[in-house]
Amino acid sequence: MALLSILQYPDPRLKLVAKPVSEFDAALQSFCDDMLETMYKSNGIGLAATQVNVQQRIFTLDISTTLKQPKCIINPKILDRIGTIVWEEGCLSFPGVYAKVTRSAALTLEYYNIQGTPQILQADGLLAICIQHELDHLDGITFFDHLSSLKKRMLRNKLEKLRERAT
Ligand code: NI
Repeated sequence: MALLSILQYPDPRLKLVAKPVSEFDAALQSFCDDMLETMYKSNGIGLAATQVNVQQRIFTLDISTTLKQPKCIINPKILDRIGTIVWEEGCLSFPGVYAKVTRSAALTLEYYNIQGTPQILQADGLLAICIQHELDHLDGITFFDHLSSLKKRMLRNKLEKLRERAT
């Protein structure tokens, strides 16, 4: 396994749209293992392939408190959405900043598992939020794109300050 490097905002590659996975092979398994390792090491609950500069429709997530329920979601498609929920989100490509985002409260997701078998998942709460956040990444959308321009400007300034402090 290997740690992957995570693109940081405003890297333009975060805006690329990922392509569907067509080969469910050993290379895919190994890439998903690397993504999970990278996600856990970074204390993230979700990571999209776009964030590690791979333009394929794959994301990993684990919202369990035990960190022992890894999921690798491939070629995801939201079939149905219900209601709205507001949650303070963060993102591994924007370390240190958080913002409230409005999402669908519950959803039905169709996806493929690592073996290439189609799956249906009903999700609500944090799981539904995480799925929408990661799926956005595969379409080149970040949580910043859901914010007002004023809020975006405030958070961009905060990010810059955090980076100055880190160097
Ligand atoms: Ni993110």
